[in-house]
Amino acid sequence: MQKKWWHNTIGYQIYPKSFQDTNGDGIGDLPGIIAHLDDLAELGINMIWICPVNKSPMADHGYDISDYDEIDPMFGSLADMKHLIAEADKRGIKILMDLVVNHTSSEHVWFQKALQDPDGEYGKYYIIREGKDGKEPNNWRSIFGGSAWERIGNTDKYYLHLFTKWQPDLNWENEKLRKEIYAMINRWLDMGLGGFRIDAISHLKKDFAYQNLPADGVDGYVNGFPYFRNVKGIEKFLNELKRETFQPHDAFTLAEADDVPPEELEDFIGENGYFSSIFDFCHTRYHVNDPKWKDRPVEMINDLRDALFKKQEYVNGSGFLCNFLDNHDTSRSAERFIPRDNIGYHSMSTLGSINFFFPGIVFLYQGQATGMRDYRKKSIDEFKDPTTFNMYKGYLQEGMTEEQALEKLNVESREHARTPMQWNSRENAGFTTGTPWFAVNPNYKEINFEAAKNQEESLYHWYKKMIALRKADDYRDLFIYGDLIPAYEKTDGVIAYKRSNQDRSVLIVCNVKGTSEKLPFEGRVKKVLLSNYDNVNIGNRELSLREYETIIMETEK
Ligand code: GLC
Ligand code: CA
Repeated sequence: MQKKWWHNTIGYQIYPKSFQDTNGDGIGDLPGIIAHLDDLAELGINMIWICPVNKSPMADHGYDISDYDEIDPMFGSLADMKHLIAEADKRGIKILMDLVVNHTSSEHVWFQKALQDPDGEYGKYYIIREGKDGKEPNNWRSIFGGSAWERIGNTDKYYLHLFTKWQPDLNWENEKLRKEIYAMINRWLDMGLGGFRIDAISHLKKDFAYQNLPADGVDGYVNGFPYFRNVKGIEKFLNELKRETFQPHDAFTLAEADDVPPEELEDFIGENGYFSSIFDFCHTRYHVNDPKWKDRPVEMINDLRDALFKKQEYVNGSGFLCNFLDNHDTSRSAERFIPRDNIGYHSMSTLGSINFFFPGIVFLYQGQATGMRDYRKKSIDEFKDPTTFNMYKGYLQEGMTEEQALEKLNVESREHARTPMQWNSRENAGFTTGTPWFAVNPNYKEINFEAAKNQEESLYHWYKKMIALRKADDYRDLFIYGDLIPAYEKTDGVIAYKRSNQDRSVLIVCNVKGTSEKLPFEGRVKKVLLSNYDNVNIGNRELSLREYETIIMETEK
């Protein structure tokens, strides 16, 4: 495999609204990111992905862009962005912006013109269709609930929006639109960005042969994924996008592309793939409080392990998936994978290790290494996201009581990941001197970055040590290019794997459960590299693991 500059990426995702406010308006901003670059460099980070900071009315917190070339004043200015890129560069950190080109904001000037003249030039930038019998063109459900179509004024025309109605989908079949998008991307790359995280990219191509299908919910709509996700023909757009923009800049691209069929993974992330890496979400949907897994946390871990290894098997060394656990679209991973009573340093450090040393690109999410937790809400009014309200409405429609619907959101809402970053134990967790746009989790007095850093045994230091190990001269090549060999796959609640190349072999063993385990062990330990307990119990042909114990050791070849 040809070596690339981004192969040793240790990434960190920032949700800018909630990272650090510097001007007291209660909203995180670009100067706030600059202020913490040293902290991130100290942790070992060398790539930062920032969720959208372009001009936006914020109907979907920035995933609705009204001007691609501007920074939203809420976050700062273009000069701040350039300053951030330069300051990050000084610390060996590359910046990724979020590229949202499946849709724009409904306030984008293109869409405003399209509304005025749906049959004109800009009408062709979007997906506009005639209604049918006074109703939507078909019964596709939006990914965020409700119809995927919105009527244009009093006309019988509708525009497509796979997400909220404030996010009209762009028409990628239109070459003129594509050229405008490529030019915009190149303007940003010319400024020195490392590349992009690419939003919702598997939806670019739509299959319009489809008409109405039988509804699959009480709302009368149907999940249309087969007609607008990874649809045949998308390869034309993705190849062209790469050729016209990323490739000439040698940019790093990390695409949100779920459920890519195994036989197409090579096209996506192989040596000549459309992207450098992709986010696959096979593991993010597990939740210990899901009725399917309730009271069966160990079975859930077994299932999760099989899903993770299966994906790696599909890739089979031909490219890099992204090794992540948390992001801005899910509740916090500790709450998802660990039964509440067991959440603590040992369980969280073990969780952090289950895929950290996989072949792939590591990405942490803000607060993950600080041990941030979900903040349960007492009322629906405490949430902020239109999609949450849509879901709530849907649950009530399905017959849930208000309490049940709220409980479900308290388990699964993506907003849990969006509470302000907890920096220290001072007011508002040091996030802002003003009123935070979204309530700070009251647990900040105990759970915060400063406390984690000052404590010898903390999740922060565990992550820092894991990062240092992945980057160490002696091990870097092994962790990037070595083979992945699953181990102890039949042992309940254990996720273990070996990384191996000609020179070295490292075994990572995670006991992801609240009970101890004894494993047969034939190998010879060369060196224990990391362990989340004070000592390790490696006896004659046996490895004894305490609850949530993780050992990372080099073994004789
Ligand atoms: C992606 C983003 C999500 C956003 C959606 C629409 O899934 O991660 O936050 O709401 O796209 O742009
Ligand atoms: Ca601010």
